[in-house]
Amino acid sequence: MKLRWSDVTPRPAYLGRRAFMAAGAAMLAAPAFGLQGRPSPHSTDEALNSFEEITNYNNFYEFGFGKEDPARHAHALTTDPWSVEIDGLVERPGSYGVEDLAPENALEERIYRLRCVEAWSMVIPWLGVPLSGALERAGVRSGAKFVRFETLYRPAEMRGQNARLLAFPYVEGLRLDEAMHPLTILATGLYDQPMPNQNGAPIRLVVPWKYGFKSIKSVVRITLTDRQPVSTWEALQPREYGFYANVNPQVDHPRWSQATERRIGAGLFGGRQDTPMFNGYGDQVAALYSGMDLAKHY
Ligand code: MTE
Repeated sequence: MKLRWSDVTPRPAYLGRRAFMAAGAAMLAAPAFGLQGRPSPHSTDEALNSFEEITNYNNFYEFGFGKEDPARHAHALTTDPWSVEIDGLVERPGSYGVEDLAPENALEERIYRLRCVEAWSMVIPWLGVPLSGALERAGVRSGAKFVRFETLYRPAEMRGQNARLLAFPYVEGLRLDEAMHPLTILATGLYDQPMPNQNGAPIRLVVPWKYGFKSIKSVVRITLTDRQPVSTWEALQPREYGFYANVNPQVDHPRWSQATERRIGAGLFGGRQDTPMFNGYGDQVAALYSGMDLAKHY
């Protein structure tokens, strides 16, 4: 299946009215702003969430606790200039520009389901590149087994960092084979536009078969290491947020069920839908975990 969002839904139908007008205005004012992503066979053809939903219902604790805080406060973040330090077990450690890691002419559109550990979900048309390509640019050295990611720490612009809602900077990690998997991307945009700040501008990770908290935003450091990283949520509460965090309807969160999810925008009476194993990406990723007890390595 090779679908772009424009094939799936006519533009006014999926963009909320405000977002549609804003997008229209942006196009008139700055036609060069529109990005083009190549269609990908990895995209789903499920109904997309609107631009408004995707940019107004967020988790980004650096800007506050509430779902509307990121939309309200993330404009304070300076995203240009930006660089990503790649270090640890790599041949070419150093500072990489966003354009080096995800050149505009290499962007693919990846329409993925996003399943939050809080049991809500969306369908988002990301623009990005496979993380594997970026890691290959830096040259992964033998001995590297894991990848550690870090978000920007800049309390002057990220007001939630002052409130110490979490231990910042936000840290996440993947096993190297998970990081090299073709579904794992570095995203720099969505809906054919540069990444909105509240969604993790200018560059973020997206790992669609894992709970959303693994998809770390506004990345400034990527470290190749032989040690399993301890992620922010895991450090806070290891029984609730494991290192793997694969979407798994059979392993409940200690405080709620993971069997079903609420699709944002499905309507007040849209009800809940079943959560599939690995968020529906099992055909592509189950082999990564063969022989592992997923109730133990949650
Ligand atoms: N990355 C950082 N740096 N800080 C965060 O608070 N929240 C995570 C993840 N990445 C978070 C983060 C969680 S819990 C989810 S569900 C997704 O971002 C939400 O992504 P979205 O707001 O773009 O939908």
